Amino acid sequence: MTIGKIIDGKAFAAGLRDKVALGVAAFAASQGRKPGLAVVLVGEDPASAVYVRNKGKMTVAAGMESFEFRRPAHIEEEELLDLIEELNADDRVDGILVQLPLPAHINEASVIAAIDPAKDVDGFHVVNAGRLATGQDALVPCTPLGCIMLLKDELGDLSGLEAVVVGRSNIVGKPMAQLLLAENCTVTIAHSRTRDIASVVHRADIVVAAVGRAEMVKGEWIKPGATVIDVGINRVTDTEDGKGRIVGDVATAEALAHVRAITPVPGGVGPMTIAVLLRNTLVAAHARAG
Ligand code: GUN
Repeated sequence: MTIGKIIDGKAFAAGLRDKVALGVAAFAASQGRKPGLAVVLVGEDPASAVYVRNKGKMTVAAGMESFEFRRPAHIEEEELLDLIEELNADDRVDGILVQLPLPAHINEASVIAAIDPAKDVDGFHVVNAGRLATGQDALVPCTPLGCIMLLKDELGDLSGLEAVVVGRSNIVGKPMAQLLLAENCTVTIAHSRTRDIASVVHRADIVVAAVGRAEMVKGEWIKPGATVIDVGINRVTDTEDGKGRIVGDVATAEALAHVRAITPVPGGVGPMTIAVLLRNTLVAAHARAG
């Protein structure tokens, strides 16, 4: 039995961050200022706090300016919208990221809509989603763009390949499908209501799993020789020490016997998200600088 390749997303992300750092140095030399990224964190969610801290560190390591805004969970929506207005008007800020999820009393769509699309480095604003869907230049959501980079690195031209995206979120599933379509894949989006999901996934040369359910994509669903991108980050508590472990949306150990290549969890897609965020911030800085 042959075993598939494990795609080293950690190494790819480190290489991308190095390239971005070179671009940042060139930008600073020509513009006389560093690109700036503002991150807004509302509330005390520990996982979000860890992400935000890592983002800040990597932003500075890439040579950019990092601005962090922490606000209590009980902040009024109006106050958050005022902060975004200030950041929209601040010339030192090229990218604005509001960490999701937001507390339930705040309307996420309104907050995202308030961000200047030119500074929307998450690519969540409807203007950027619409531009992506219609094939125009856009700021593209970080995680799906990172997945496309890994796929092209592994497979080269994706044209004509059958791709199945499992999951239909605005953050990953939908933009992922748009990006695969732009690469001339034949694209199917499967989700919780899909009938006979095993046979739908079995058609795919490329499987992208982004549902947030531990190991729900089984090894035997995978067509021999397919490439699998696992976006899931799920904590399961089945270890004896009680600490649990992090697993993806794919049953990786089973899938390895079927795949050509697969991203591991952790160390696959995860590290790509922040690297692409830095890349998007540099792209936004160039676009704003004209
Ligand atoms: N929460 C989880 N992933 C993301 C992301 O990519 N961007 C933002 N803003 N919040 C998130």
